[in-house]
Amino acid sequence: MSVAKKQYKRVTVKSLVEMKANKEKISMLTAYDFTMASIVDGAGIDVILVGDSAANTMAGHETTLPITLDQMIYHASSVIRGINRSLVVVDLPFGSYQSDPKEALRSAIRIMKESGAHALKLEGGKEIKDSIKRILNAGIPVMGHLGLTPQSIYKFGTYTVRAKEEAEAEKLKADAKMLEKIGCFAVVLEKVPAKLAKEVAESISIPVIGIGAGNGVDGQVLVVHDMLGMTHEFNPRFLRRYLDLHTEMTNAFAAYHKDVKSGDFPNENEQY
Ligand code: KIV
Repeated sequence: MSVAKKQYKRVTVKSLVEMKANKEKISMLTAYDFTMASIVDGAGIDVILVGDSAANTMAGHETTLPITLDQMIYHASSVIRGINRSLVVVDLPFGSYQSDPKEALRSAIRIMKESGAHALKLEGGKEIKDSIKRILNAGIPVMGHLGLTPQSIYKFGTYTVRAKEEAEAEKLKADAKMLEKIGCFAVVLEKVPAKLAKEVAESISIPVIGIGAGNGVDGQVLVVHDMLGMTHEFNPRFLRRYLDLHTEMTNAFAAYHKDVKSGDFPNENEQY
């Protein structure tokens, strides 16, 4: 059953701001390839994030740092070919925007031109304000990302909850307001206390999409491999699993293996 308050033929950055104003929650999931994107889009998910978490889920890296701009463009263009309705947001990968605003804009333009993406996401607050402004000035919509920003994992040292201390919480609140002021259309808040996330969501007019940030925000995002239960060794408290695909897939592969070994597959109806 759809719980949408208004049907959107295509979700745009404007639709998301409207959803917040209408108190309609926003659904967002990651996807990195054509097949997954077409299923996620067909299920009515509002936003598809081509996250740099592809470095983990698709390539097996421990962090998101190694993924390149070319690899993000490959994933994003595959996703774009699979969608009809969802808004597609793509992460600018580590090293493609931190050195200066000109480099940030060049990277942003490459993703938009070569993949057909609709918007970009960048991690960080006031440190990257000038880069975000430069991208926005070129007419490219930007989603911010505050709290636990995985591209800074070596600065944090751990994937634990961020902004529990007052100084970091105050900076996060100021960064969120700044992102709204310069023209970002939404902000992701990752792994921060629910009370703080709610306060931020209530203090700005653009949508706040949470992951591990409680229910007082304007929408939720999960990594698709996690919510499908494919990454069974990853068990943060915020994760709700909707399937146990790791078990289902393991059983299917084992059954196929057995059928091949026994000569049961293919049978008479499965050949020409
Ligand atoms: O890369 C990603 O998947 C993300 C989400 C966790 C928000 O940034």
